[in-house]
Amino acid sequence: MHLGRTTLSKFLLQQLRDIADGNDLGALLVDVAAAIKTISAMTAKGALGGYLGDLEQRNGQGELQKKLDVLANDTMIRHCEWGGLLAAMASEENDEALPIPPDCSRGPFLLVFDPLDGSSNTDVNVSVGTIFSVLRHREGASGDTADFLLPGQEQVAAGYAIYGPATMLVLTVGKGTHGFTLDREIGNFILTHPLMRIPADTGEFAINTSNARFWEAPVHRYVAECQAGRSGPRARDFNMRWIASMVAEVHRILVRGGVFLYPRDSKDAAKPGRLRLLYEANPIGLLVEQAGGAASTGRQRLLEVQPTSLHQRVPVILGSRNEVERIERYHVEHD
Ligand code: AHG
Ligand code: MN
Ligand code: MN
Ligand code: MN
Repeated sequence: MHLGRTTLSKFLLQQLRDIADGNDLGALLVDVAAAIKTISAMTAKGALGGYLGDLEQRNGQGELQKKLDVLANDTMIRHCEWGGLLAAMASEENDEALPIPPDCSRGPFLLVFDPLDGSSNTDVNVSVGTIFSVLRHREGASGDTADFLLPGQEQVAAGYAIYGPATMLVLTVGKGTHGFTLDREIGNFILTHPLMRIPADTGEFAINTSNARFWEAPVHRYVAECQAGRSGPRARDFNMRWIASMVAEVHRILVRGGVFLYPRDSKDAAKPGRLRLLYEANPIGLLVEQAGGAASTGRQRLLEVQPTSLHQRVPVILGSRNEVERIERYHVEHD
């Protein structure tokens, strides 16, 4: 049965055939997928697994950690550190880059990840995810934090898992964005959404409007025009969604279009936005561009931002191309 289906391994073999270090990259992505299957099993157990709730500790960015933040982080690290494919790893949940243990061999790639995205949603049984980015490591470099400070356009692969009613893995190796669904009986990711495309136009936007008083003028203008509906300057009605799991918003946008904003705001003068460049904005930005969408800070293409620190935050505006370009225009007209 099902003999014609494309498994993740078969897909990777086909896509990576002509890429330098293709076999190693494929092996790394299979390790990441194994970690994701484990995290999927943990999140699916819900209260029965004993994994819900907070830990009484904060990560380096001051966020109260959920038990699942730490479990998912350990799972990613343990699955990926021993394969001989990585020079170092970095995670939302660790202040500094994570070296490969001395008894494991090292490889050509860097792996950066958000082990559990949307973790405020774990206890309320709403979709969460894992986001990851693969970079090539400069030969001879040490593997410390500075090595990770590469713009998003240098990513060799990026993806996310969404732990929803179905667990899915969505990834790109620079040849389009492709979605796989976990067949839980067999334990394999099966290609179900080849070459995902984001429509250029949309009538759906996503933003946390509780931050409205902190937004800049161009974002106020854009949202007000959407809210004005068919009697406003856009002459159409818009719908709004906010799940508070970036992966779930992005997944919706990859499937049916839309625009997502976590823009620059004045909530905290030290932070130019909520989302982190290296393990949230960049991997999602690459997936969105590879699906024909656009990803911007409002003033610059996201993938061209030069990182200066591991946990740097960045304004994020992404999704259907014509809406993102409109919001960029509003920034230009305002600045
Ligand atoms: P994380 O759970 O990895 O810290 O990321 C949460 C992010 C993102 O998933 C989501 O879009 C955003 O935070 C939600 O922020 P608000 O709670 O401010 O809406
Ligand atoms: Mn967090
Ligand atoms: Mn996140
Ligand atoms: Mn997280």
